[in-house]
Parts: sequence; C-alpha cells; structure tokens
Amino acid sequence: MCGIVGYLGQKDTKDILLGGLKELEYRGYDSAGIAVLQEGNFHSYKATGKLVNLEEKTQDFITNGFAIGIGHTRWATHGKPTELNAHPHVGESSYVVHNGIIENYADLKKELIADGVKFLSQTDTEVIVHQFEKNLKTSDSSFEAFKKTISQLQGAYAILLVTKGEDETIFFAKHGSPMLVGINAENEKYFASSDTPLIGHCSDVNYFEDGDYGYVTPVGLAIFDKNNKVQKPNFSKLTQNKLSAQKDGFRFFMEKEIYEQGDVIADTLMGRLSDEEILFEELDTTLFKGINEIKLCACGTSYHSALTATYLFERYAKIKTTIEVASEFRYRSPIMSKDTLFVVISQSGETADTLETLKMAKKAGLKTLVICNVDNSSMVRLADACILTRAGVEKGVASTKAFATQVTVFWMLSLYVGKLKDTMSTQEIAKQIALLREVPGACKVTDNLHERIKRLSKRYLHGHGFFFIGRDVFYPLALEGALKLKEISYLHAEGYPSGEMKHGPIALADPELFTIALLPQHLLYEKAKSNVEELSARDSTICAISAIEFDKADDFIAINECKDYMLEFFEMMVVLQVLSLEISVRLGNDVDMPRNLAKSVTVE
Ligand code: M6R
Repeated sequence: MCGIVGYLGQKDTKDILLGGLKELEYRGYDSAGIAVLQEGNFHSYKATGKLVNLEEKTQDFITNGFAIGIGHTRWATHGKPTELNAHPHVGESSYVVHNGIIENYADLKKELIADGVKFLSQTDTEVIVHQFEKNLKTSDSSFEAFKKTISQLQGAYAILLVTKGEDETIFFAKHGSPMLVGINAENEKYFASSDTPLIGHCSDVNYFEDGDYGYVTPVGLAIFDKNNKVQKPNFSKLTQNKLSAQKDGFRFFMEKEIYEQGDVIADTLMGRLSDEEILFEELDTTLFKGINEIKLCACGTSYHSALTATYLFERYAKIKTTIEVASEFRYRSPIMSKDTLFVVISQSGETADTLETLKMAKKAGLKTLVICNVDNSSMVRLADACILTRAGVEKGVASTKAFATQVTVFWMLSLYVGKLKDTMSTQEIAKQIALLREVPGACKVTDNLHERIKRLSKRYLHGHGFFFIGRDVFYPLALEGALKLKEISYLHAEGYPSGEMKHGPIALADPELFTIALLPQHLLYEKAKSNVEELSARDSTICAISAIEFDKADDFIAINECKDYMLEFFEMMVVLQVLSLEISVRLGNDVDMPRNLAKSVTVE
C-alpha cells in the first residue's frame, strides 16, 4: 500500500525519485507525486493514475546540482484517487509524503481548521504538514517542530518532510510502516519504503525501527529512537538482486504474501477498531436502512470468503444472508427484492462475472456494496459503497492475503451490522474486537511450523485425490484449502462439509485418499472428530489440523491454542496455504504463475 522515496544529493533528483517510484508502483498506482527543493525553491508535480502520467508531466523539469526531494505513489485509503489527494501534501512552505494512517487526524484537523488552516485534500496525511507548520511558529528549530509533530500523531506512519527554511535537510519518522535509508560513497542519501528502489544506488542501508525519527543532511544522518535517545545507524549491505528484493528474499510471491498476512490484516484493521465499536468511515449507515437480507456474490477465493461471511452475518448480525456464485447468478433469472443489500467481493474489482452481477443488482434498484482490494477498479466505481481490504498488491495468482483480509473485513462488518441492528450487546462486540486484534498474530508463520509442513508435504504428492473437510466456517476454509492445492499442485482436491462425507464421498475412502481434516477446538469439535473417525475407520490417510492432539490421524499439524474459533480459522488458513505451496514446490510447478490461470479473470 503506497510507496515512498526520498533523495538528497547532486544527481538528477527528478530522475532518481521517478526511478524509485517505478520500483514501488506495484504497491499502488492511483496517483503519484514529487516535490523537489533546490536553492530555496520548491517544484512539485502530481498526476492521477499510473506513474507514466507523472513522467509526462515532469518531462521538461530537470534538476542540475544539489537538491533534496521526496516522492510518493498512492493506493488510496482516505479520499478518492484525485490529484488533490495525491502526495506530497503542501503547507505554506513545506511538503510531506506519508504511508500508513493517522488515526487521530480528524481531531487534529478540527483544531487546525479552528486556527484558520485551509485544507486542500480529504486525506489524513495533510494534517502532518499543517501541524508541523503550526509547531514551527513556536519552536526554536524545524527539527524541534518536526519532533513535536511526530509526538502528536497516533496511528501508523512512514513520513518524509521537507521545508523551505532547511533546503539541505530531509526529516523522517517511522512507526508501523516500513522505511529505510541508504548511503553510498558519493555521500548521497536515499529513502524508500522498501529496498528495491535503492538497489544499484546504495551500498549500505539502515532499516528504521518503530519510533525512529530524525533527519539527513549532506554531512550526516541523525537517528533518535522512541525514547528520544540518539541511535547509531545499523547499516547492513544491500543485496543487488532486484527480483529477490521484490520478493523480500522469499522464493515466490505467494510465499511472501502468505508471510505478509499478519501485516496486511493489521493494515485492514487500522483505524477501524475502537474498544467498543467497528468504525467504517467509508460507510453511511443509511446503506443498511430497510435491509432485511444480505446477498453475497463472488467467484473463486472471494466466493469462499463470502461463504464464511454467511455464517458470521447470521450468527452475529442475525440478518438473513444468502450467497451465489457470480457466473450462476447471472443467467438464472434471480428474484431481487429491494430490501436486499447486494454485496460483491473481489480482490481485483474487475472479474467479469462478478462485475456483471453488480450491474444486474444496480439495474434492479438494489443497494450495493463492494468489498475489494483495488481502489478505483470497475466494481469500486460502480457500487454505492465500498470497503477496501488493504491487502496491497497481490502478485501470486493463487490468492492468499486477499482472502485473509476479506474474511477480516467480513468479521468486522458482521459486528458493525450487529450493532446497527442491535443484535449484539456492547460487551459482546467489545469481546469480538479484542479477538480481532489478535488476528495478525494468528497468521504468523513460524520457522517450526513451516519446516514441519515442508517435511510432511512429501507424503502428499500422489494418491487419487484429496478431501478437505470442515464444519461451519471451516467448510468454506476447506473449500479454499482444496482450491489452493488444485491451483498450484494440479492434484485433484475437493472441499466438503465434514458431515456430508457419509452421504456419498466416503465411498472413495482408502489409503490413497488423503483427507485434510480441520478440527477446531472451539467449534463443533466432537462432531467434526466423529466425521474424521468415520474416514479413519475406512483407512483414508488423514492429516488432522487442530490445537488438540488427535491420535486417529496419520499426520498431525498442531496450531496454537486460541481463545476463539475465528482465531483458529486464521491459524488453519496459514497451514493450508503453506501445505499447498510446499506440495507445489516438491512437484516442481510454477507457484506464482500456475498453468491455465490468470490473476484477473475479465472474461466470462
Ligand atoms: O479478483 P477476484 O477476487 O474477483 O477473483 C476471483 C477469482 O478469480 C480468484 O479468487 C481465483 O479463484 C484465484 N485464483 C484464487 O486463488
């Protein structure tokens, strides 16, 4: 989500900033901008859409000699992807770029407006530059003003700020969003939110820790930690291999994206949880007025997250919830009544079948909502309302982190609707919110877990098929586990509700039939266990995933003990993803670009 760059040195600052943004463009391309300060004069350019638009706009702008500059490529969270909302944001004589979310921006903005400050954008970021300039009026130095500003911000940020009075200084701060600084023998300084833009420019880099802030000048780098103590930079050598840097050292994008899930879920939760309620600033509560049913429509993995949502909406919000596969819904003359909220779910926002159902619902006069990962996509533009999943760009064709963030959004939304409809007490909601805060931790992939799954995967490379089985929300998770395996291993796999096996599929049971059994401790454990025992009695080879040891299984993958079934859901999700990945690797398949598939299915 978003990308930041900064440069201080003698080379063509514009070229370096644009080159850096190009490397980060995959993280967001709603708009981009740069601000360059040279000999006391600012030059700033912004453009919506892809970076090429900014490149065109800045064609005639050339920086010769020493300058400082900052740049940003945006993936919209607060405010639409317009030029005014593009970074860098300007004050009277300073510019700022920012990744993350300033959670207390509304309070700060209110005070600044009362002081007479005029805001140009709808973003949370703009408060930073105005707050800095407000502090500047009462501080001895720009650095003091910057330090004070940082102490007034809540939320997550990686910030670069430049100000006219200090045309040889870039101020920086990092908390919760990644940022690093790079150096070289030519005494240049480079900033970026990930290391790829620095490759080829810098020999050594310092990755900032949460709470770090400071400044760079031509002669130095000053870092202070969260306790305001001076820190020595901790330089390490920068890899010079770009592809491996983009993958952060992981073998595949899918693997990186599995490991990223804790972080992107934290991003998805950010600013949306208070202690007692879910905050969806992007929703108008009238969307739910007069609504007696929620209809969900999607394809593939997004369909599985939506199926999970049917359980959550009915359980928590007590609202009738139905679901359709988009390609089926389109051609079956569905009855659409106006008391139904029509919700489409899509990572890309471009899937043809899902998009068509959204058009049908709009035509029928239904209220519509999209849960999507790509702002400004066709579905986002078309729906009445939108919740963004904030998973960042997903490169692996096999969706992982998009699914994780979709389920997180649905869990939040079920509580949000539960509060609106008064089906949950404040205590119940508060309890669920406390659980939601634990989701990022539940998605952590430890070395031990990965190693265990890797070793075990060698036993599952043949056979005549896999059944993934689970009950309740673990049924959609089973479907998703089977889809992941199919997509990248090309082995036959099916997801089934555990209780359905005896109605036919159990006829296939023999040692060459592999059953991946989801056994959550906190949801129908005994029932699910009996279903697995039935398969075990028929000699199916069983791999059980549970927090409770299960001796009827041939293989057992232990998840951490959790307080709630939804946390077990996320723990098991990670196990299933890693299992598919490792089976695919052993089979020598192309994990990121499996045969016959494409990332975005824009044909019906
Ligand atoms: O972009 P969408 O979420 O609308 O895409 C829907 C499916 O095409 C997608 O989830 C597909 O099933 C993935 N390859 C699953 O890994």
